[in-house]
Amino acid sequence: MHAWQFEKYGNYKDVLHWVERAAPTPSHDQALVRTAAVSLNFPDLLIIQGMYQHKAPLPAVPGVEAVGIVEAVGPASKFKIGDRVVGFSHSGGTLADSFLVNNSSAWTVPTHVSDEQAAALSVVYGTSYFALEHRAQMRAGETLLVLGAAGGVGLAAIQLGRLMGANVIACAGDSKKLDICAQQGAHHLINYKTEDLVARVKAITGGHGADVVYDPVGGEIFDQVKRCVAWGSRLVVIGFAGGKIPSIELNRILLKNMSVIGLAWGQYLDRGSELPGVAQALFYDLIARKQIDPVIYKVLPFADTKEGLRLIESREVYGKVVIKR
Ligand SMILES: NC(=O)c1ccc[n+]([C@@H]2O[C@H](COP(=O)([O-])OP(=O)(O)OC[C@H]3O[C@@H](n4cnc5c(N)ncnc54)[C@H](OP(=O)(O)O)[C@@H]3O)[C@@H](O)[C@H]2O)c1
Repeated sequence: MHAWQFEKYGNYKDVLHWVERAAPTPSHDQALVRTAAVSLNFPDLLIIQGMYQHKAPLPAVPGVEAVGIVEAVGPASKFKIGDRVVGFSHSGGTLADSFLVNNSSAWTVPTHVSDEQAAALSVVYGTSYFALEHRAQMRAGETLLVLGAAGGVGLAAIQLGRLMGANVIACAGDSKKLDICAQQGAHHLINYKTEDLVARVKAITGGHGADVVYDPVGGEIFDQVKRCVAWGSRLVVIGFAGGKIPSIELNRILLKNMSVIGLAWGQYLDRGSELPGVAQALFYDLIARKQIDPVIYKVLPFADTKEGLRLIESREVYGKVVIKR
């Protein structure tokens, strides 16, 4: 088979090559899936640089989620040949003609969900749903502040937050991205490059502050975020797209009676939790009822994978980039 492969860690522009390599063999509860579509994620950039929490043994293939048709199965796989499935792989492998999935991190896809939707669904909605529902336990009527709101996980948080009855404030770095956030259901918009985040959140909430913060960015903006949270708020740490891992003073946490909560969606899969499968069925249902829909920025052919990664790296993208065969 052919695959995008890197033999050493580095920038994708330098180290990623289209090569021929042996197709993997499914063992035990694994299935081999013929790739139809792959969605790119911010962590792909980190995986290729060797900076992600899971270091793929070299030579490695990037890509953490994809959809396709099962072509071979291990003896304990829950799938059969011909099934259409979507799968997640923490250490990569989906940017190839075929990829492996196992029982705890792959699900069949119903016919009303397109390849593009399926490829773009699991990571971003899984992350946002687990953050808001399981970790923050957000309630209807609360104010949700979404950072990096026009990114993959951010737009999913807007759609789900609105559906859960929250008052959604979207923060992004330019007006075009904020327009997209408004189209996806955000009630209020803040440009965090040009506006005073603390003052705007306080004005929008009548001085109350944000009840739930969804933060995939970290970085410099966090210093403002921690000053506009409500008493009893929950701040969910999603990631550090801004590059810097921020910190918070314990006295602030005490005085605001707040919780700082981590969310690592992939860990639910690695630990064999039943919850991601339940959530996946919910997402399919919400798509059928037109209550969620992944925002696809661009669909590119496999040959243009590096261009897709560039779009993410340059922050040009909103929503998802999908690579199709
Ligand atoms: N915890 C989990 O389980 C989990 C799961 C999936 C993803 N994540 C993490 O969540 C973060 C976002 O993922 P994503 O797929 O939504 O990424 P994305 O689509 O690239 O969006 C990231 C957003 O972050 C903002 N940003 C601020 N500083 C940035 C910088 N220096 N470089 C790039 N973007 C920057 C950008 O918005 P503006 O331009 O508007 O500022 C961008 O829209 C990543 O750190 C990823 O690792 C965590």
